[in-house]
Amino acid sequence: MISLVIDTDTGSDDAIALLMAAAHPQATIAAVTTVAGNVGLAQATQNAGRTLEVAGQTEIAFFVGCDRPLVRSLETAIDVHGSDGLGDTHQPVTTMVASSEHAAAALVRLASESPGEHTLVALGPLTNIAVALAIDPDLLTRFRSTVIMGGAPDMVGNTSDMAEFNIWVDPEAAARVFAAPGHRVMVGWNVATSAALVTPEQRQAMGELGTAAGVFARDVTAVVESFCHEQLGLPVFALPDPIAIAIALDPKIATRVETRGIRVGLSNDARGATFPTWVTDDLPVTDIVYEADAEAFAAQMMQALATLD
Ligand code: RIB
Ligand code: CA
Repeated sequence: MISLVIDTDTGSDDAIALLMAAAHPQATIAAVTTVAGNVGLAQATQNAGRTLEVAGQTEIAFFVGCDRPLVRSLETAIDVHGSDGLGDTHQPVTTMVASSEHAAAALVRLASESPGEHTLVALGPLTNIAVALAIDPDLLTRFRSTVIMGGAPDMVGNTSDMAEFNIWVDPEAAARVFAAPGHRVMVGWNVATSAALVTPEQRQAMGELGTAAGVFARDVTAVVESFCHEQLGLPVFALPDPIAIAIALDPKIATRVETRGIRVGLSNDARGATFPTWVTDDLPVTDIVYEADAEAFAAQMMQALATLD
């Protein structure tokens, strides 16, 4: 079994990733932690709780984290995901109640209680994980692996020319996470746009699966589909968090990986850029995914949505 700790800023793609984790027959979700990113912290927490209800998993340990980046102001992505982060579907208020323990403290505790057991999957800005590293600098060595949806190793960004949103929002946090000891996998925007693209027909097919999860996934991605069509002129939209969770659950989906250091741009011009480097005398390495199996990803995602009712 794969035990997952998932840190999320719960927008529409995060929600599908959570459903995939909940549905996977060989995975259990040990905890979900929320962080500000796509939407504010309260909305991200509401969205995570609601998604876990749709997945039928309301007993999962649930923690609230940081409401803003380490040193910068919060920039959300409500233009991409909708004002509520879930496609303006305005879901019912969740009945899930988060623990009073801060997410960063929970990450430290969970990792130290079960060293090497959990896989940490980061689906939002890395603020919670950076704060947890300030408490325990060896945090990532106590996870089996850390899979990060974030970055643009090819320098083709989605938020600035070179930067992907999760890293751009909190580059100071990301710099600390990529400089920390421990095994790490980066699933960047390059992978989302090459192996996790969804057509309008595929989105409709989610709703035709006849399950609550399929209808939910179709509905919460309506705004991101419109955004990509109307703002970007694209006939498809990308699902970055779902392919990151798919790789965490089945690493074979990552078909080409290079192991390099990752330096994060902090200056204004390079804010949030993720520069792969051979210069690793002062930097641990990261497994950077460059290619992934689109068919295997789609099959895992649709199987998950077909399972949860
Ligand atoms: O750039 C895409 C990433 O930013 C995804 O995790 C999306 O949910 C947003 O958090
Ligand atoms: Ca996310």
